[in-house]
Amino acid sequence: MSIEHLNIDHVSMVFDTPAGPFKALDNVALAIEKGEYVSLIGHSGCGKSTVLNVVAGLLQATTGGVVLDGTEVDEPGPDRAVVFQHHSLMPWLTAYENVELAVRQVFKGTKSRAEMKDWIEHNLHLVHMEHAMDKLPGEISGGMKQRVGIARALAMQPKVLLMDEPFGALDALTRAHMQDSLMEIHAELGNTVIMITHDVDEAVLLSDRIVMMTNGPAATIGEILEIGLDRPRDRVVLADSQEYNHYRAAVLKFLYERQRRPDVDNGDGTSASEPETAEEETDAPLKIVSGMQAA
Ligand SMILES: Nc1ncnc2c1ncn2[C@@H]1O[C@H](COP(=O)(O)OP(=O)(O)O)[C@@H](O)[C@H]1O
Ligand SMILES: [Mg+2]
Repeated sequence: MSIEHLNIDHVSMVFDTPAGPFKALDNVALAIEKGEYVSLIGHSGCGKSTVLNVVAGLLQATTGGVVLDGTEVDEPGPDRAVVFQHHSLMPWLTAYENVELAVRQVFKGTKSRAEMKDWIEHNLHLVHMEHAMDKLPGEISGGMKQRVGIARALAMQPKVLLMDEPFGALDALTRAHMQDSLMEIHAELGNTVIMITHDVDEAVLLSDRIVMMTNGPAATIGEILEIGLDRPRDRVVLADSQEYNHYRAAVLKFLYERQRRPDVDNGDGTSASEPETAEEETDAPLKIVSGMQAA
C-alpha cells in the first residue's frame, strides 16, 4: 500500500447513456500530499467535475478508485467537503445557521453547545463573514454566499476541501478577494485542496500543482505543472514576475495549443444546457486579463 495522503488510483469512468456507453475518464492517476493545493484545469466537458465527484464519493469509478489516508472512498463523507460553483445554502437559514447545520452533523456528541458556537463563529470569521452571520442567503451578495459555503465546508474540518469552480459565478473583483481569502485560509489551516477552475491566473496564483487534463472523451491527465512561486503570493507583485508569467504561458500553451478544441463541437460532452460557443472559447484570455487587473 502506498503512503500517499490522497491517491486517485487509475480512475476510469464510463457512463451509460441512451446512445451507449460513454467513456469520460481514462486512467486518471494522481497522488496528492497532505496540505497540497492542486488545481484541475481543462476545457469544458473534459471530465474535471467527474474526477472531483469520484473523490467526493458522489460517483463511483468504473475502474480504479480513491484512497484517502489508507481508506478507500466509496461514499460521501465529512472528511471531504465540497464547494460548488453555485452556493447550496438553505435559503430559510441564516449564514450562521447554515454553518451550524453542518457543524451539528459532524460534531454532535463531541463538541458542547458553547464549543459549537465558538467554532461556527471562528469559521465565519475565517471567511470574513462574522458581520453578516445573522443574514439570510437572500440578503447577501453572491460572493458572500460563496464565503458562507466555504465556511460551512471548512467547519466540517475536512481532510480534503473539494471545490468545483467555486468562484466561477463571481465578478472579477469579488473573485480576486475570494482568492486572497482562500490563500490566507490555506496558509493558516493547511488543508489539502483540489480546486477546479477555468481561470489560468487563479490556478497559477493559488496552486502548488496544476493538473492539466486532455480533452474527452477518455480524458486523462495531460501534464502536471509544479508552481514553485514562494508563498505568501501577492497578485500585484506577481503580475510583473517573469516566473509567474512563465507558468501562466505554460498553462495557456497546453490549453490553446496542445489541447485546442476542435471547431466542431460534437461528442465532446458539452451539455445541451451549457452550450459552448466559439465566442466563449476566445473569451477566455480576456477573462484572465481582467482577473489580474482586479487586484
Ligand atoms: N451522469 C452522466 N451521464 C452521462 N454522461 C456524463 C455524466 N456526467 C458527465 N458526463 C459526461 O462526461 C464528460 C465529462 O463531464 P464533466 O466531468 O462534467 O466535465 P467538466 O467538469 O470538465 O466540464 C462530459 O462529456 C459529460 O457530458
Ligand atoms: Mg464541471
